[in-house]
Amino acid sequence: MTDAPIPEDEVRPVTILFADIVGSTALGERLQPEEVKALVGECVTMMSRAVEEYGGMVQAYAGDGICAYFGVPAAHDDDPERAARTGLRILEVVAEYARDVEAAWGLADFAVRVGINGGQAAVGQVGAAEPGAVALGDATNVAARLQSLALPGAILVGEATARRLAHRFVLEPAGAFELKGRKTPVTALRLVGPKARGSDAGATPVVGRDDEMAQLLGALGDLVAGRGQIVLLLGDPGMGKTRLLGELHALAGEHVTWLEGHCLSYGGLAAWPFVDALLGWLGAEIGEPEIAVRTKARARLGTLLGDDLEKVLPALGRLLRIRIEGPDDAGGADQIREAYIHWLKALARERPVVVALEDVHWADTSTRELAEAVLDLAERAAIAVVLTAEAAPGSEGAALRLRALGNHGHRTTEISLDPLSDQAAEEMLAVILGSEVDAVTRMGLVREAEGNPLYVEELARALLEGGLEPRGRTWTVTVRADLLPPALENLLVARIDRLPVGAR
Ligand SMILES: Nc1ncnc2c1ncn2[C@@H]1O[C@H](COP(=O)(O)OP(=O)(O)OP(=O)(O)O)[C@@H](O)[C@H]1O
Ligand SMILES: [Mg+2]
Repeated sequence: MTDAPIPEDEVRPVTILFADIVGSTALGERLQPEEVKALVGECVTMMSRAVEEYGGMVQAYAGDGICAYFGVPAAHDDDPERAARTGLRILEVVAEYARDVEAAWGLADFAVRVGINGGQAAVGQVGAAEPGAVALGDATNVAARLQSLALPGAILVGEATARRLAHRFVLEPAGAFELKGRKTPVTALRLVGPKARGSDAGATPVVGRDDEMAQLLGALGDLVAGRGQIVLLLGDPGMGKTRLLGELHALAGEHVTWLEGHCLSYGGLAAWPFVDALLGWLGAEIGEPEIAVRTKARARLGTLLGDDLEKVLPALGRLLRIRIEGPDDAGGADQIREAYIHWLKALARERPVVVALEDVHWADTSTRELAEAVLDLAERAAIAVVLTAEAAPGSEGAALRLRALGNHGHRTTEISLDPLSDQAAEEMLAVILGSEVDAVTRMGLVREAEGNPLYVEELARALLEGGLEPRGRTWTVTVRADLLPPALENLLVARIDRLPVGAR
């Protein structure tokens, strides 16, 4: 959990998750009340653990359920995503209990219902003895109601929150519901699961990054000629790091083997980005049954490595958290590193390899250590390590950058993404807004966005949705707080939360 102090009363964006176990009443017919209580209690504990895993805060335990906040005490720019992943994890955890319950007592209806919704909530303290933060408001009420409307085993998400999730998750319309005391019906979507990799295509063409693209192309040319490369893509949130990485991926096409791993703001498993990259290459996902992952690992790695398979499989299995018979000491950090490098080397003999690690300012120590070994490998093999990062002095990512510049400077390209020129921002607006919007409005947006492409997109979208209005005599862009696009709002609040208290 975050160690920031609980804030004093304020209105802020919060994502709220309610989860409630159903089917425990039937258990009461087979079990003693205290046995039911213990079972449900254990289940609730597991759900709370899922919340904490993703950096949320459990606010209350109510009977068979929990209420959790993401964004209290500190906002993260990905709070809705954290809530969504938590919800999916909760379904998994409870499904496991349900299987046990069915096996033991033949009861089939043990399940959980989840509701997720975000929005502005008044966050403050209640309770004297052990004060806890509560987030009050419409957003919370809607989250609670969505939970009660969800079918057992399902997650319902409010519309605005669903929009924030749409690029990473599969959602299905679940209808509109009248809620007591609310004038407008609430549109809900069912959260099905994470989207398959690579299904996100850039909507607008890239603008204003000719030099950067030329540098990337240069590095790619060197790689294809067999020279190992290191590329550092640096920039503030929203500046276009991921986008340029995507452009590089598209350029590289079939010439390279593309491996990609994402560092997570909430940590996740140790060395997660490397787990992510290996799973991606195997065509596997983290939630998949162990036996499926094991089968894929044996098949794909076997084809690549032949007789060497048994040398690396136990250690890579340990990294992936799948059981594979092998010597007991196969899972040490050294063995995992050796096995991973062995695999990458074999891949690079087939064709050049790109190892893309996203957002290394969030890297953990084991990720940094393994990444250093891959940087070393770039000296000896046709491997390009591409790192994206925000400047974060003191982070493992910053250490990696220094290592690349210090030990591998001759093959390192550092690209810092500065704000877009006004002209480039205008070009983006022209694509998003078309020619409908007048020049003065467009100029206002350009000024407001300060060259950050994410801001350009979000402000333009807000304008289209009616979230901006002119103010005063001269036309300025004024963002109405209640209509601030959620992505931008979270970004801004997350940024403010990172400031020292006095500077806000
Ligand atoms: N040069 C550009 N031209 C057009 N669109 C761009 C450009 N750069 C970024 N974008 C768009 O702006 C949005 C934000 O970019 P992106 O997600 O790549 O930023 P980021 O630096 O990776 O941010 P974060 O730190 O949040 O990961 C995306 O929708 C992206 O497609
Ligand atoms: Mg990014």
